[in-house]
Amino acid sequence: LIEESKKIQLKEDVSLPKATKIVHLAPLRSKRVRVNGWVHRLRSQKDIIFIVLRDGTGYLQCVLSGLVARTYEALTLTLESTVQLTGTLQEVPEGKTAPGGHELIVDYWRVLGAAPGADDAFTNRLNEKSDPSILADLRHLVLRGETASSVLKLRAALLAAFRETLTAHSLTEVTPPCMVQTQVEGGATLFKFDYYGQPAFLTQSSQLYLETCLPALGDVFCVQESFRAENSHTRRHLSEYTHLEAELAFINFDDLMTHIEAIICETVDRLLANPTSAAYIKQLNPSFKAPARPFLRLSYVDAIKWLNDHNIMHEAEDAEGNVIKEQGLTVMVPHKVGDDIAEAAERQMTDIIGTPVFLYGFPAELKAFYMKKMRVDGEGHVFTESCDLLMPGVGEIVGGSMRIDDLDELFAGYKREGIDPTPYYWYTDQRKYGTCAHGGYGLGVERLLAWLANRYTVRECSLYPRWPGRATP
Ligand code: 4AD
Repeated sequence: LIEESKKIQLKEDVSLPKATKIVHLAPLRSKRVRVNGWVHRLRSQKDIIFIVLRDGTGYLQCVLSGLVARTYEALTLTLESTVQLTGTLQEVPEGKTAPGGHELIVDYWRVLGAAPGADDAFTNRLNEKSDPSILADLRHLVLRGETASSVLKLRAALLAAFRETLTAHSLTEVTPPCMVQTQVEGGATLFKFDYYGQPAFLTQSSQLYLETCLPALGDVFCVQESFRAENSHTRRHLSEYTHLEAELAFINFDDLMTHIEAIICETVDRLLANPTSAAYIKQLNPSFKAPARPFLRLSYVDAIKWLNDHNIMHEAEDAEGNVIKEQGLTVMVPHKVGDDIAEAAERQMTDIIGTPVFLYGFPAELKAFYMKKMRVDGEGHVFTESCDLLMPGVGEIVGGSMRIDDLDELFAGYKREGIDPTPYYWYTDQRKYGTCAHGGYGLGVERLLAWLANRYTVRECSLYPRWPGRATP
């Protein structure tokens, strides 16, 4: 058969126009077309070869029979080879299904780039049951899979929908720098590097830059990478993540939470109204329902009470903040006002409540230098106009707050956090030249996508995720 196959020469019909993308095939039914792509699935039955072709815009079932299925290239074809297929596009017979409802009856084809077979074959390199660290090394090949590529297609649709929603709310998009010389969320999680002999950092948040845009451009947003040197190996932490941040002038704290809720709900509505993105959501998260508005609002103090009422405990700490252990086990105690609500407790609470929750009014000592104070309670705790939006299955996806708008209060904030105000001169100037009530938020795009697409970890929601020890590929 092989010897015979080498003698078969197919003849190309050169009258055909250029190749068409799979997504644009529908109007070309019953016509002759040409498509380029990768062999996604391959099956032979008697003398017929079935290929599912993938070109990044969709999948196409292709049928090779007769002479075209007997060439040497046909007999040695492998998964993930690139091919160009030419033939007639036919509606699939009744009772049969195929992507797009049609299939290509191939009459001429050629291999553009053969993929290896045998030991180096794609299916030998990539096995779904492989160890997670091997799958992480092979992320560039994992991306070719239906699930991974759908998550990234949905991510693209999500970012586009966010931009449309924010623009409809009269926010202007800006692109702040990634290389900075100031911190936003505490020095402990800064990635430091040498910038022409000066110390510099990878940005943790573009918030301070967005604040400087208010007097120039009005309300603004950005979609920018943020970097956190956190030694967190949890399923919701990345060392680099896509941070969607926005800042609004002349608002109060209630306006801020209402705005965050509107942006998320309107963005989800846009995705569900678009048949392409709605299909990705249905594929990845079949039971997804748009959340009901308004979102529940729970104050930090009430959340502490709620956790204790539900027997969700906090790790006991000594005076220096070290976790107390007895016989190797962490001692657990009830929560008290002033405690940072740990990720596990927060997740349990969100999952029991089962709907989006705004947790608001965190104690100042847990929060960054720039947050506006809310009130002082009897025990001397100072609370802030801050909120986290928690989603079932993921936990915190948004962190936001009103910002200090008084110059003296800002200096007190720098002092409390031990920050030298000198490099912040440009930020301080905002409070000198026409200060205003303002607030904003940051949304973790991978976390929102994990919620929307029902992914176990944010690592599945990033093109090439980075976490401690992982910066390859
Ligand atoms: O709560 P965070 O640290 O808030 C800020 O950075 C503010 N300056 C934002 C602002 O007001 N403009 O981070 C905001 C969000 C979190 O709610 C979370 O969704 C995401 O960023 N995030 C992370 N996502 C993945 N991996 C990490 N290590 C993350 N750290 C924060």
